Amino acid sequence: MNDQLRRDIRKSFDEAAGDEEHFPSSIDPRIQHVQVLLRHFAPVDNHRILDVGCGKGRYARVILERNPSARLTGLDISERMLQSVPAGINRVSGIMSELPFPDGAFDGVYATESLEHAVDIERAVSEMCRILRPGGKLAIIDKNAEHWGKLKTPEWERWFNRRELEKLLSRHCRSVRSEPISYWEDVAPDGLFLVWLAEK
Ligand SMILES: C[S@@+](CC[C@H](N)C(=O)[O-])C[C@H]1O[C@@H](n2cnc3c(N)ncnc32)[C@H](O)[C@@H]1O
Repeated sequence: MNDQLRRDIRKSFDEAAGDEEHFPSSIDPRIQHVQVLLRHFAPVDNHRILDVGCGKGRYARVILERNPSARLTGLDISERMLQSVPAGINRVSGIMSELPFPDGAFDGVYATESLEHAVDIERAVSEMCRILRPGGKLAIIDKNAEHWGKLKTPEWERWFNRRELEKLLSRHCRSVRSEPISYWEDVAPDGLFLVWLAEK
């Protein structure tokens, strides 16, 4: 990503941080996007877990509430988003295609609706897998390329199809799968959101 685009993306999300309606700081734990992460990372115990592109840390907040022994870190390009991350979660300013952590530093890594903004997608996937320890787990929730055009998007945003991201993840992880995901348990997925689950 060039410096100008990096500045533009940061500025856009710094401004968006004031928009609590579209960039909320909390999430209903019954939402399937939360439930799938809780299931995938269990048992969390005192695991080190990284939320990549954490925004205001709404997912990390729930994971920590449910697993007080977990050691959570949230990384985001936007300092203003990071200011809303709850106490008890380590905050790191950075970009997901150059993660400032050593190899194998985390037991779990996830990215919810943030990989779509990474621009250097292959590099971001490779970085997320690099900082995961062997046997560690990774989850990505993002939008389905088959539904592109359904929502207004900034020019840098990308959506993914299942096989494309499965293939990228398979370069680094031994088990990879994906599935459509809905918000609510009793509502069938409409296909807009997908979750990719992997183990290194
Ligand atoms: C749609 S928000 C999602 C936030 C959070 N994951 C959630 O679900 O509440 C996308 C987030 O990704 C962050 N972001 C965008 N590009 C990034 C990059 N290259 N590296 C790290 N964070 C990035 C934005 O600042 C923003 O907080």
